[in-house]
Amino acid sequence: MRTLEVKRQLDAHDLAAVAELLVLAERADGHQAVDDHRWLDMAQGGRESHAGLVAWEPGHHHPVGYTQVSRGRQSWALDMVIDPHHRYDALDIGPEMLRAALELIAGEGGGHVHLWVYQPTSAHDEIAARVGLSRGRDLLQMRRPLPAPAARDSGGGGGDDGGGEAELVLRPFRPGQDETRWLEVNNRAFRWHPEQGGWDAETLAAHLREPWFDPEGFLLHERDGRLAGFCWTKVHDDHDPPLGELYVVAVDPDFQGLGLGRALVSAGLDWLHRARGLAMAMLYVDAGDRRAVGLYESLGFVVDHVDRAYVGDVDGTGPPPAPLNRSSPT
Ligand SMILES: CC(C)(COP(=O)(O)OP(=O)(O)OC[C@H]1O[C@@H](n2cnc3c(N)ncnc32)[C@H](O)[C@@H]1OP(=O)(O)O)[C@@H](O)C(=O)NCCC(=O)NCCS
Repeated sequence: MRTLEVKRQLDAHDLAAVAELLVLAERADGHQAVDDHRWLDMAQGGRESHAGLVAWEPGHHHPVGYTQVSRGRQSWALDMVIDPHHRYDALDIGPEMLRAALELIAGEGGGHVHLWVYQPTSAHDEIAARVGLSRGRDLLQMRRPLPAPAARDSGGGGGDDGGGEAELVLRPFRPGQDETRWLEVNNRAFRWHPEQGGWDAETLAAHLREPWFDPEGFLLHERDGRLAGFCWTKVHDDHDPPLGELYVVAVDPDFQGLGLGRALVSAGLDWLHRARGLAMAMLYVDAGDRRAVGLYESLGFVVDHVDRAYVGDVDGTGPPPAPLNRSSPT
């Protein structure tokens, strides 16, 4: 008989067990099972993590599945992973975890739900359909080999009088000094985005504490005394081949359309190749963000694979959730 533990915060034992499950799944699938930002939020007790559902089976000292419920500003996000050795049972384990997660959301007032799946298969379609979720947003993972051709900064900055080759003036992020204005630009540029918009100091601080964080690869461009845009890179050393990710790229709306986005992306690619010696770059972008997709395509990125959100709306009429093991950190 399977048991499902629903926890507002995972204790050290759960965290270790789920982290191991995530490693196993990543090894089997060749990609991460759960969104980085949301897992970090759960592991560090961040603002958006709402609950973790851990499925256990008698006779196994490891979880057979894990589902995470995160509360975004406008919607709920679900991430789900099933142990590769238990996937013969995925059509039972998956819907069980998701039903419990949706009940939890109903008890919290309901709302719009995204279930994020990396490289969806027909089993994911079936699991989602069984709990009433349908196909929604697609997220593209795009890649290009490095080095990439240098870009032109057509924005007239850095002393260029327009039209000529100009070096974009950049500097690394300074922890302890740049947080407030970075948050302002990020939230203005991504105000429409359900996950990347609406970051607060705590969300940013959690990312800056990550072992992979390197301020030298977090490039800022200032113009007219303001932060105009940035290109934040992240190196996946554990990937074969190592990947250099353009983690977050944005230009403040006051400076968009001036060529800065193109120049920042090129600078990030250049940094990944020259400073970190990487031969492959990668990024995630919403398939519907035509401006960003067009920019990346024009810089030689091609789609490597598609991740998918299954979506649905949950009424807030469900019974109150069973008491959780701890109170919410918020
Ligand atoms: C995507 C983004 C970084 C582009 O920055 P930008 O400085 O506005 O872009 P650029 O001026 O360098 O233009 C790059 C390309 O975008 C396209 N573009 C620019 N403005 C556009 C607009 N208003 N509408 C449609 N396409 C546009 C053009 O095709 C341009 O290519 P070109 O150089 O051949 O003309 C910026 O719009 C942004 O911060 N958006 C919000 C955050 C975001 O989506 N980030 C990427 C997520 S992965």
